[in-house]
Amino acid sequence: MNIAIFASGSGSNAQRIVEYFKGKDDVKISLILCNRKGAFVLDRAKMLGIPCVTFTHGEFYDSDCVLNMLKDYKIDYVVLAGFLWLVPGKLINAFPDKILNIHPALLPKFGGKGMYGMRVHEAVVASGEKLTGITVHVVNDKYDDGDIIFQAECDVALTDTAEDVAKKIHELEYKFFPVVIERFINIGSEI
Ligand code: GRF
Repeated sequence: MNIAIFASGSGSNAQRIVEYFKGKDDVKISLILCNRKGAFVLDRAKMLGIPCVTFTHGEFYDSDCVLNMLKDYKIDYVVLAGFLWLVPGKLINAFPDKILNIHPALLPKFGGKGMYGMRVHEAVVASGEKLTGITVHVVNDKYDDGDIIFQAECDVALTDTAEDVAKKIHELEYKFFPVVIERFINIGSEI
């Protein structure tokens, strides 16, 4: 199975996923795609020896450029790991139930357009929630809306800042996301 990872920023999840699947014969992280020139995920991809490409807004939404790259690399599954753009219908149709996203909160809470990165954690802290967590879901044509396949929780202490919550969330993501991807590939959405 060939997996492509889409990321927009630092790419620490992308790195954990690459490291997890290194040495596993049946799954290969074949390509990292990024919508932001200069994003640190591109440095990580080079360091890890994974082919990486960037694309523009126009290439993503108004051309088949990204789709063709995925075909060229014979991609079977797509993983969004900190990728901020809405996935266009043509990609979803080309990979039906084969695109996973991770969201840094317990959907359906704290999801939707504009809810990404630190904004999510700031909203969690401001709302006084005692629990937050991560959600892995199948991607459809709306933000943070597809079928949920996995969630894990962590506590939010009264004294936690958004940065504290971000650290806890990253730990959960590193621990669970690669394993959830592997199980999804092997057994489908029945997990
Ligand atoms: C993660 O918390 C992910 O859930 C969210 O954005 C963050 C990306 O972090 N969508 P990184 O780029 O993987 O370090």
